[in-house]
Amino acid sequence: MTGIHTLNQIIADAASAPSAHNTQPWSPRMIGDGAAVELRVSRKRTLPASDPTGRDTLLGLGAWLEAFSVSAAAHGVDFEVEVLPALADPEAIVHARSDEPVLRIELREAGGGPGADSVDGAMNVRASVGAGVSATGTGTHSQGTAADTPGSGSAPAGGAEPVPSAGPDSDRQLLASRRTVRGDLAPAKGLVIELANALPAWLRLVPVDADDLRHFSALGTADTLREPAIARELAHWLRLHPSHPRYDVDGLNNKVLGVPALVSRLASAFTRKRRLREAAVRVVAPVGELWRRVLLEVPVSAAGEDAPAAAAAFVLVADTKLLDLGSGADATRVLNSPLGLSPERVLEAGQALMRLWLLASARGAAFSPASEIIDSSLAQGELRYRLGLSRRDVPLFITRVGVPKDPNPPRAPRR
Ligand SMILES: Cc1cc2nc3c(=O)[nH]c(=O)nc-3n(C[C@H](O)[C@H](O)[C@H](O)COP(=O)(O)O)c2cc1C
Repeated sequence: MTGIHTLNQIIADAASAPSAHNTQPWSPRMIGDGAAVELRVSRKRTLPASDPTGRDTLLGLGAWLEAFSVSAAAHGVDFEVEVLPALADPEAIVHARSDEPVLRIELREAGGGPGADSVDGAMNVRASVGAGVSATGTGTHSQGTAADTPGSGSAPAGGAEPVPSAGPDSDRQLLASRRTVRGDLAPAKGLVIELANALPAWLRLVPVDADDLRHFSALGTADTLREPAIARELAHWLRLHPSHPRYDVDGLNNKVLGVPALVSRLASAFTRKRRLREAAVRVVAPVGELWRRVLLEVPVSAAGEDAPAAAAAFVLVADTKLLDLGSGADATRVLNSPLGLSPERVLEAGQALMRLWLLASARGAAFSPASEIIDSSLAQGELRYRLGLSRRDVPLFITRVGVPKDPNPPRAPRR
């Protein structure tokens, strides 16, 4: 049985995972004396307005599971993951109103001690690239067993170069050094190609031009902020002044957002006082509408085939043509669902996303996501057209990637 101290450390490491608005939607509960961990979605820690399909929550849970996996391997702990029916329940994933666990993690002592599954000193992150939770419905799934997709398995899918590592402890350090930044990024040449090579075949990275990203991000922001519920939700998770009671707990603070002190001091009251917040939401909506109309005047044309070698941004896309969606009604149900993908697959994509984020960290690079492009159906539609995505392609995540100009960017807090 895994010691409680060890398991607590693994759970603490897993909490370093990224999540939209830093909501930290995971709620792990130890069962028995460390025999298993049940994972629930934490109440009030989802984004029903801006994430109505639950995509971001599922990606965050997948990232949590991958961080758990990296730390467990470093501690010599093996485990099996059982995907539970609640993972497909919007009451749990979108509204966080269910007490049902979504995952059960059964723990076992690993054979070879800490870091046993490191490959010739290469970090566990790399060794697990391509592995994921099997996605064929609920049942017992082994962490690291091949998913039923081409290119997946316990070995890297695309032959990425081994990443030097001093061992399992450095894998835990890598979890701690993962960065999200909002400021300037210097190009990390060849990184997007390297990251793309580390994915299973059904997931791919589509490079995005920097100017396109700026345009679509502005369009997505303008479009989504027209929705009062989305603006309200964002305001709820902003902590613009240290006097905010949850400044060091969760959400997005002025430091991580890089908001200048004076602006954040002035804006802080608008995020905290209900009446001011409602007034701000009423002002933001027409401004968003106007901004959106201006941006729609900018012509967008379909981009050429050639992927820029020095790509500084990418979209993570799931290709449902390469997935076994079942037959007849099952496939139709998945394709017509708001996500266009089964929840298990989005969870798996979250695991893959975390591996990419850590691989980027190992290269000294960071991500700067722009989910508003996917959240806005308008911006997503234009992005799809520009990139030539087909109806069976599901964009899941979009980010700039590069080396932060600030060598020590501020870290988001954890509860
Ligand atoms: C699915 C997902 C979507 C995200 N979308 C955005 C985004 O649109 N804009 C942004 O600045 N950060 C985004 N982030 C990053 C989170 O804000 C960040 O992970 C969180 O604040 C915790 O900070 P950390 O990654 O530095 O630990 C996203 C993260 C995830 C997992």
